[in-house]
Amino acid sequence: MKVRTDSLLSPEDLGRIGSMKQTPWVGYDRAVMIRQEMDALVRQPRLPRPSNLVLVGDSNNGKSTILRNFCKKHFPQNQLNSPNTKLPVVMVQTPPHANEGRLYYEILTELGAASSPNESETSKLARIKLIFEHLDTKVLILDDLFNIGSSTIALRRRFLNALRNLGNECGVSIIGAGTPEILNILASDPSIQNRFKPLFLPRWNKDESIGEFARIMSSLQESLMLKEQKPFKGREFFERLLVFSEGLLGEAIALLHLLAENAIRTGKECIEAEDITREHLKKINWVSPKDRSRHTGDLY
Ligand SMILES: Nc1ncnc2c1ncn2[C@@H]1O[C@H](COP(=O)(O)OP(=O)(O)OP(=O)(O)O)[C@@H](O)[C@H]1O
Ligand SMILES: [Mg+2]
Repeated sequence: MKVRTDSLLSPEDLGRIGSMKQTPWVGYDRAVMIRQEMDALVRQPRLPRPSNLVLVGDSNNGKSTILRNFCKKHFPQNQLNSPNTKLPVVMVQTPPHANEGRLYYEILTELGAASSPNESETSKLARIKLIFEHLDTKVLILDDLFNIGSSTIALRRRFLNALRNLGNECGVSIIGAGTPEILNILASDPSIQNRFKPLFLPRWNKDESIGEFARIMSSLQESLMLKEQKPFKGREFFERLLVFSEGLLGEAIALLHLLAENAIRTGKECIEAEDITREHLKKINWVSPKDRSRHTGDLY
């Protein structure tokens, strides 16, 4: 089938290719269970030793998406500057190095209260405490917590101590997220490790979770905006999608988008199991996650 380049596509086709990538949130059992555990932290009263969670999973498997969805759910409905506003959940990206001053700065920036980067750490921490109390903040989310792995052991230790102190002083639970290396980083200090309960987001598995994987993929069909809305059919279809995406949700969704784009460019307007073969994927320039990391290895 002839593949039409952009100049041969109608504005409507180009529009479909662009907008299909705005994937709607898809709930699945594990994500709902994880969100419930996180919800429990929001409901609990301020405690002197708040419990923490760490969401652990391979890259591109949906950790940040769950965290953002949880944050959105707890975002206040009223104006942020109204006097009674509560902000139960605050989410920041972990700084690229284990530097607690930089973390405090990120938190204050997120709260719209950053001042000079030269403000002392004690002052930043005191202001965070005050604002968290005022906004009744219960949970602080640190996405990509494994970022601190690039720092020396001494700096990591200091950062983790600061994190424990932040949680205790401000009475907030901390939810960290990261790839499995994060468990080693937390294990470097047993008093930190036992404060973080791990929640795992495993890869999708052909034998154990193909049913739910199929349900997620099928629920995305409408968002692909193909003209022929033939339901995705057969175990083969979903197994191939799962195998080529190596069980990673983000990869499976990206692969679905690539196949849908190809279906628009060729005019086929549907996706079938026969499109998900090694030869065809090569033709449409799909690079598997494994090959991508292999090529990165060659470069460095
Ligand atoms: N529940 C979901 N609903 C819809 N799309 C999702 C969902 N989970 C993941 N995705 C898709 O997968 C992509 C990757 O997910 P996400 O960024 O959350 O992975 P991650 O585990 O945080 O990866 P990393 O460790 O590299 O940061 C997202 O951009 C989104 O398109
Ligand atoms: Mg992420």
